[in-house]
Formats: sequence, C-alpha cells, structure tokens
Amino acid sequence: MVLFLCLLLFFTTTLALNTITPGQSIKDGETLVSAGGSFELGFFGPKNSKSRYVGIWYKKVSTGTVVWVANRETPVSDASGVLSINHNGILSIMNRTKGIVWSSNTSRNASEETIAQLLDSGNFVVKDRNDSDPTNFLWQSFDYPCDTFLPGMKLGRNFVTGFDWHISSWKSMQNPAPGLYSLRTDPQGLPQFVLKKGPEILFRAGPWNGAYLTGRTLPTVNPIYSFEFVWNENEIYYEYEVQNHSVYTRYLLNPSGLIQRTIWNERKNDWEVFATSQADQCSIYAYCGPYATCNTNESPPCKCLEGFMHRSASTEDINSVDWSNGCTRRTPLACEGGDSFLKQTGLRIPDTSKSWADLSIDLKECEKLCLKNCSCTAYTNLDIREGGRGCLLWYGDLTDISELNEGGQDLYIRLATCDLNHIQNKGRIKEKQKAAIIAISVIITSGMMLLALWLYVRRKKLRKTGEHGKEDLELPAFDFATVAMATNNFSSNNILGQGGFGPVYKGTLIEGQEIAVKRLSKNSGQGLEEFKNEVTLISKLQHRNLVKLFGCCVRKDEKMLIYEYMPNKSLDYFIFDQTRSKLLDWRIRMHIIDGIARGVLYLHHDSRLRIIHRDLKASNILLDNNMNPKISDFGLARKFGVDQTQAKTKRVVGTYGYMSPEYALDGLFSTKSDVFSFGVLVLEILSGKKNRGFSHPEHDHNLLGHAWTLWMGKRPLELIDTAFGDLYNATEVLRCINVALLCVQQSPPDRPNMSLVLLMLCGDSVLPQPKQPGFFIERNLPTTDSISEKNEMFSIYESTITSLEPR
Ligand SMILES: *[C@@H]1O[C@H](CO)[C@@H](O)[C@H](O)[C@H]1NC(C)=O
Ligand SMILES: *[C@@H]1O[C@H](CO)[C@@H](O)[C@H](O)[C@H]1NC(C)=O
Ligand SMILES: *[C@@H]1O[C@H](CO)[C@@H](O)[C@H](O)[C@H]1NC(C)=O
Ligand SMILES: *[C@@H]1O[C@H](CO)[C@@H](O)[C@H](O)[C@H]1NC(C)=O
Ligand SMILES: *[C@@H]1O[C@H](CO)[C@@H](O)[C@H](O)[C@H]1NC(C)=O
Ligand SMILES: *[C@@H]1O[C@H](CO)[C@@H](O)[C@H](O)[C@H]1NC(C)=O
Repeated sequence: MVLFLCLLLFFTTTLALNTITPGQSIKDGETLVSAGGSFELGFFGPKNSKSRYVGIWYKKVSTGTVVWVANRETPVSDASGVLSINHNGILSIMNRTKGIVWSSNTSRNASEETIAQLLDSGNFVVKDRNDSDPTNFLWQSFDYPCDTFLPGMKLGRNFVTGFDWHISSWKSMQNPAPGLYSLRTDPQGLPQFVLKKGPEILFRAGPWNGAYLTGRTLPTVNPIYSFEFVWNENEIYYEYEVQNHSVYTRYLLNPSGLIQRTIWNERKNDWEVFATSQADQCSIYAYCGPYATCNTNESPPCKCLEGFMHRSASTEDINSVDWSNGCTRRTPLACEGGDSFLKQTGLRIPDTSKSWADLSIDLKECEKLCLKNCSCTAYTNLDIREGGRGCLLWYGDLTDISELNEGGQDLYIRLATCDLNHIQNKGRIKEKQKAAIIAISVIITSGMMLLALWLYVRRKKLRKTGEHGKEDLELPAFDFATVAMATNNFSSNNILGQGGFGPVYKGTLIEGQEIAVKRLSKNSGQGLEEFKNEVTLISKLQHRNLVKLFGCCVRKDEKMLIYEYMPNKSLDYFIFDQTRSKLLDWRIRMHIIDGIARGVLYLHHDSRLRIIHRDLKASNILLDNNMNPKISDFGLARKFGVDQTQAKTKRVVGTYGYMSPEYALDGLFSTKSDVFSFGVLVLEILSGKKNRGFSHPEHDHNLLGHAWTLWMGKRPLELIDTAFGDLYNATEVLRCINVALLCVQQSPPDRPNMSLVLLMLCGDSVLPQPKQPGFFIERNLPTTDSISEKNEMFSIYESTITSLEPR
C-alpha cells in the first residue's frame, strides 16, 4: 500500500512537471517545465512590484526572459494566485478571494479528459488527453502572442473566423500590459504586415510576392531558420521554424516599438540582436510621402518618381525639404485614353492597402484593367516567380516605395502621356550619349574601323544629297483648275488673310475637303525664295502642332501652297479681341501654350532637320476645331545643320515685337531667338495684349517691360487678361509667366531651350528667377510710329543692320 502510494506520488509529481489536469493547480512559486526542459511556466512579477503574472520563460537559456504572459492586464495583487483547469478545458487564474482574474477561452467543447500541457516549443496547450493528433488543441497560448514571436507561432489572420494573430509590445519593461505598438496583418487590399503605433502605421512588411515578403532587404537563405507563408481563401499567415533546435531565436517587439530578431549567444550568455526591421530612414512608413522613392544610399534619400515633382515648389534647399507631403503629378491624368504607363524597376512595391489582386489575370490584361479605371495608378505582377503572373492594381496615391539594390520589383506607373513622352525623350538623349560613347571607344580602338566609318559616312552623305532632290518632288501637285474651282476662282470673298508672301484663300475641294490656299504674289521676287523655302522645309515635317501641307500647285508664274484649313483662324483673332478672348479660358490657353511649345520643340530638336522658324507670332498660330494650335508660315524658316547653333544674316526678317535683340540688331539667329519669340507669345496669350504697341499710363515700357515690372514688384498676376475673371489656376499662371520671362531674357545663353521650356511648363519643381528681358523699353527705331499692320510682317531694318555688319 505504501509502495503504491509512493508510486502514485512519484507519478503525479512527474506529471506536474509539464501538465495539469482538472482538479490540479499551480500556486505561486510552483512551475511547469516542458518535457525537453526548454521552457518553464509559473508566476512571476517585476522587481519592486507586488503584481504577479502567469507567464512562460526560457528554462535552458536566460532564465527570466518571459515570452508569454496570460493575465497581461490583470495581475494578481499578491502571491496568493492559483492557475487551474476545469473539466470544460478552461484555464483560470484565481486570487485570494477566489475571484477569477483571468480565464482562457476554448473554442470547442472539451471531453472529460482535458489536460493543460506546456510543450517544448513554449506553447501552453489545452487538449484531450486521448487525442492522438498532436496539433489538435482546444486552446493554445501560441494563438495569443504577446511581445514575442516564437518559432511555430503564426502571424496573420483567419478570414473565416476573423481571428487575428498579432504581436503587441509591453507597456514598459516592468509592465506586460499591451503597449502602444502592434504588429499585425492589414487585410485591406492585398494583405501585408504593418507595425502600428495606435492607429498609425510605422513600418510595413510585405506583401507576399510569391517568393518572399517584400521588405527592405531580400531574406537570405540562412542556417538558423526557415519560414513559411500560407495564403489561401481561409487564412493568411507567416511562420518560421528553427533549423537547429539547439539554437534559440525569437522576434521581439520591444516597448519602444522596435522589431528585433535576437539569438541566444551561449558564449556571451546573452541575447544578440541579429536583425532590426527598422534599420534606416527608408523603413519608416511613407518617409518620402506619396509618389516618391526612398534610397538610403543617396542624400537626400527621397526622390520624386519620374513624372512627378515635389509638392512644395518654394524651397530651394532640397536637403531641408519636408518630404512628408511627397510629390505630385507634373501633369494631371487625362484619364480617358490620355495616359500611359512607365515601367520602373528595382522597387519595393508601394503600400497595398488600396489595391486589388487576381492571380488569373496576366500583365497585358492588368494594364487594360488599370487604364479603364481613372483611380488606378499603377500595376504589376502579383507573383514574381517564373517570369511573373497575376495582376496587382493600385488605387489612389502610391506610398512607401523604396529603391532596392536587390530583390526589387517592376512597377508600371500611370502617367499623363505628355509626361511619359518627356521621360522617354530624356531617355533617348541619354541612350544617344551612351551610343556616342560606345562609338568613340570603338573608333579609338580600331584605326581601320575609323577609316571604314569615314568611308561609310561619306557614301551615306553622297546618297543623302541625291535623295534630297527627289524628296522635293514628292509633294503632291494640285491641278490649277482644281484650286481655282475650290477657291471660287480666287474670289476676294474667299480671302482669309494675308500671308508672308501673298493672300490666303479658303477653298473647298469637290470631295468636300476644306483647304487653305496660299498664293504667291506674282510680282514678289522675294516671295519666290520664301515659297521655295517653305515647300522644301514643311514637306518634310509632320507634327500635330504644325500646320499640314497637302500639296502645291505650280503653273507658269503662279505658285500656290495648299494647306489643311483651320476653321478657328489664328490666335491673334481671339486673344486681342475683347469679345472673342472670353472664349479662351485658362485651360484652353494653357493647352495652346503647351501645343506651341511642342511644335517649336519638334522644329528645334525632334524633326529630321533642325529648323529655326524666325517668325513665331500670334497670327502664325492657327487653331483647329478643337483649339489645337498649329504653327504655320515657314517662309522665313531656316534649316540648321545638327551641330550648327547660330547663324548670321544680313537680311533681318521677322516681326517687330517678337524679334530677339541679338537678331533684330545683329542679325544673329538661333533656336534661342525662337525661344524669345515664344516667350513674347506666351506673355501675349496670358495678358491679351500685344507686345508691340502696348501702352500703360505709368510707364512707356512694352509688354515685356510691363511683365518684368510686375514680376519685380511681386504682383505678377496683374498681368493676366481680365477676360479670365477669377477662373484660373494661380500656380500655373505664375509658372507660365516665370517661364515666359525666362524665355525673353536679354542674353540668349540665359534663355532655356525648348525641351527645358516644356519640362518647366509641364510642372518642374523650382524655376529659376528670370533676369531682365531684352527690348523691354520701346526703342527709338526708325519709323516705329508709321509701321502699318501689313508692313509689320516685314519690318526689315536693313539700313541699321548693314551699318552694323562690318564690325
Ligand atoms: C480578486 O479578483 C476579483 C475579480 O477580479 C476582484 O473583484 C477582487 O477584488 C480580487 N481580490 C483581491 C484580494 O485581489
Ligand atoms: C471568448 O470567445 C468568444 C467567441 O469566440 C468571444 O466573444 C469572447 O470575447 C472571448 N473571450 C475572451 C476573454 O477572450
Ligand atoms: C457543446 O456543449 C453544449 C452544452 O454543453 C452543447 O449544447 C453544444 O451542442 C456542444 N457543442 C459541440 C460542438 O459539441
Ligand atoms: C480515453 O482513453 C481511456 C483509456 O485509455 C478510455 O477509457 C477513454 O474512453 C478515452 N476517452 C475518449 C474520450 O476517447
Ligand atoms: C546546432 O547548433 C549547435 C550550437 O550552435 C552546434 O554545436 C551544432 O553543431 C548544430 N547542429 C547542427 C546539426 O547544425
Ligand atoms: C474604380 O476603382 C475604385 C476602387 O476599387 C472603385 O471604387 C470604382 O468604383 C471604380 N470605378 C470604375 C468606373 O470601375
């Protein structure tokens, strides 16, 4: 009998090591120890405090490192606490007065034979004693992590029950109650893990891209642990396992909100921080604000995405810029068909809380879907494995993007096509430079190749000059009778206006096509040259902001050019007329300015030839049905060689008021003299006033001088046309005035080139301050008073020029 009792005693004590059954309990001071001896469960309390908690801590290493606490918020106030389990499998902690300070919550009905057991993983579980399934628990502490994420725990969410496995920091080192910080799944959009301080996101891990959780660094294969990501319609979770069970490692969310992976260092007898999630600025959530990327290797680390500009355009010092507002589009999205996507690579993809995903949709279909919805801002593959599959779309602002050296992904960002073109043009120039560098190195390394290249270039040149003559003949020839019929036999009723070298008629071909016919005056010797010039130049140009030449008609001494007809006449017809100017609101004017800039850019940089127009002015800007501007009248245009930047002429032709000083006075013209004219044109469009003939009661400056005075007086908005009323965007107007003043600066090198003009108009961050414009005071040029509207087109000051010429 005694023997039996002893056996029983022994039996119960061994059991008490890791298990309690209904009727048994653990008092303060007693503990359970897991079978392998790794973990211990019992009452503990912070130093200098009477509060007692039930917790689990490491037994083998670092006794005192608590990994789990049951009654986090409800400590027992003295050492009288008792932990027990009842027949329903419910664990409870009672105080001296048998009041229940904490109890577990079982999800299923328990059988008679329930036990609570501390496993060697550190998991405290409630289960049926008989259950042979070692993972079938009625309750487990691993479902309720505190600040420590142990191997085998889950971090994630059950979509069916809504159960949320998350980690929360302690209030302080002395207080295990849930603190400010939590790491949990954000189930909105494509699920990702977020570290939060209260409701505010501090750090983001994920989403899962098929291979790893997208983060600051690519998880390397390591000998310490392996991880698993489970994602199906029922649940999503992340968990990890140690490879070598004699290695102790844990994730900890400490009371100050730092996520650390620590490993027990046997030799130092201490925990060693193996990795910290928030390693640098770029791991701070949305550090650079929306539409900006973060790169720690650069200073400042933030940079706007291509096609975006910094929101606060006023700050000069980029280092002191507050990036929290991020960047904004240079050009708003057009939405309906006007947008395209720019592929950026090597990125950590943006916050997916406003995203949508489908694994069965391919990238092409994904792009289409994104284009369809105006609020869709970017897309990419959902799963990056095997060349990528699936579709992930973003709605709204793109935030928290980083540039990664390794493990970055592609992102297709939606931009206004206008901005995309800029970027691609920039890219092309870079490509060309690259190509040039490669070519040069090839030449250097091989003298033979140099010779070959020279021969090749020479042959090509020869061939090109041969082609040249042919091209001139390619222009369709119109029959004189057809043109005469179309224009009602050149009826004066059909005259639209006076072009550079003769009248312009409106005509209608038999098929109904409307045309404009420019007829060379018979007795204009000078006109003939310009006619030829226009034919040879414009027949080679194709751009939606240049007027289209349909063909020409030559019969004996009759020479005519046939153009597309512009129903809305020209720009001067609108902007200088009090009533009609009201039809051009700010949007339309901006559209016109943009179109002119694009047309001129094409002439200067993009066409096969480099062309200086030399006569940009309001009456040479024609408007089509949709108020798209088209540059016309190439009679004075000059073709430049690709390397040629400036030319000099004895015969200064152009229009006074639009001519740059160096051209009007010295006959020097270049792309920069066109830029000057463009600047004048912009100021005219904004003000509704002509530069030439401008008068103001307070001064005798021209429009340029007036604009400059207002700019210097910090009241530039007074310049704008009263026809606008209050309906304009002050920021855009200011930008336009600033750009225009930069264009009309006295010194040609100071003036921006057209590609920069467009970039600035489209919305660059900080614009330089303009210097004083050229020709801002009316000069006492000969016969200024008597120049008539007609003569203005050929205001030639040959006498002045020739006298300056011999210098
Ligand atoms: C014991 O716990 C109950 C319930 O939480 C509480 O009302 C009571 O005041 C506690 N008694 C002591 C002595 O702490
Ligand atoms: C226990 O679980 C039920 C349902 O699962 C829930 O409503 C209740 O709040 C839980 N109680 C505790 C103390 O967790
Ligand atoms: C659990 O037990 C209650 C009564 O104790 C019973 O009504 C219920 O059906 C049981 N649920 C399950 C799933 O067995
Ligand atoms: C558990 O096992 C014991 C004996 O091993 C048996 O008597 C009992 O019926 C079993 N209980 C259940 C619920 O299977
Ligand atoms: C596991 O880790 C221990 C301690 O670091 C080491 O001594 C042992 O060789 C490791 N075992 C394996 C299989 O890697
Ligand atoms: C575009 O997407 C948003 C966000 O998913 C949605 O609310 C909206 O209804 C969609 N619009 C259209 C036209 O599909």
